[in-house]
Amino acid sequence: MEVKSGFKILAVESSCDETSCAVVVDGRVCLSNIVSSQIDIHTRFGGVVPEVASRNHITAIDNVVKQALQVANLTLDDIDAIAVTYGAGLIGSLLVGVSYCKALAYATQKPLIAVNHIYGHIASNYLTYPDLKPPFICLLVSGGHTAIIKVNDYNHHQIIGTTLDDAVGESFDKVARVLGLGYPGGPKVDKLAKIGKDNLTFYKQNDNLGYNFSFSGKKTAIINYIHTLEQRGEQIPTADICASFEKLVVDELVEKSIKACKQYGINKIVLAGGVSANQQLREQLSSTAKAQNIECYLPNLSYCTDNAAMIGSAAYYSYIGGIPLADMTLQPNPSLSL
Ligand code: KG4
Ligand code: ZN
Repeated sequence: MEVKSGFKILAVESSCDETSCAVVVDGRVCLSNIVSSQIDIHTRFGGVVPEVASRNHITAIDNVVKQALQVANLTLDDIDAIAVTYGAGLIGSLLVGVSYCKALAYATQKPLIAVNHIYGHIASNYLTYPDLKPPFICLLVSGGHTAIIKVNDYNHHQIIGTTLDDAVGESFDKVARVLGLGYPGGPKVDKLAKIGKDNLTFYKQNDNLGYNFSFSGKKTAIINYIHTLEQRGEQIPTADICASFEKLVVDELVEKSIKACKQYGINKIVLAGGVSANQQLREQLSSTAKAQNIECYLPNLSYCTDNAAMIGSAAYYSYIGGIPLADMTLQPNPSLSL
């Protein structure tokens, strides 16, 4: 679909524990990206409590949207379309964003664009790199998903490999929990891994999974390792466990995604999802890609974890790609797949 230049989308993201609203122009320029995180609220429970998350979205969403317009120095009249994440995610959390945006689109009579959260994570790279275009291979690593995706076009994604059990972010969080590091665990493991040594072998990689992944065995191996040390009354080498676990996971993610680039003859690798904030993963993916003459794209840190700007970018490509608009019958889909 042909659209005027300067097409402004107001996007809302509320799939988990971040209430976010952004204004994005032409899918590439972010005018505002307000993220109201509930991390402090959920920390004392050791993880996201879905019912608590939805209640907090309700109280936050109106202010977050108003702030996004204010920072962009715009009013609703300047907005061309409304976009919202409709899956995957927590049903109650999604419901808040979807209901709010349906009402907003109805009241303003603007088009409503429903966005798949995962397409949003991929699109965080369109905001970071204004010239990046498909095709490319995407390594998607979030709290709920882990996949190697062949992005043939903005709206055409092909899964090459996926996790058979836990998502990688989820396994970071679980390892952090058994080490008593608190929630969310990924950034804490990342930080400690920097001062630890990756010299522990608590798991023997026996990989016949092709491009698929399995993380639950690695997590269980660590739990058993910690319990054994505890039973022997030995000290837990927390930082070394973090470094060793991180290495195990990062080696596999990098190796398989670079292999996919080669097999499919694509010389661009793009990282996406919350775990793309992990420093070891960023460094290792870019150095390995460079050594193989593959271009590596890493999302700006502000777009790694959940935010609405990435949803605004994905929405633009859905809109110009002619994907049918949503209407007042739109319902959230907690288990939406790619
Ligand atoms: O993409 P995201 O914000 O939410 C989902 O869509 O799931 O990802 C959140 C996940 C959490 O599991 C969090 O622990 C992980 O991303 N994460 C990290 C880092 N920052 C966030 N994992 C490893 N290293 C990090 N620096
Ligand atoms: Zn996410």
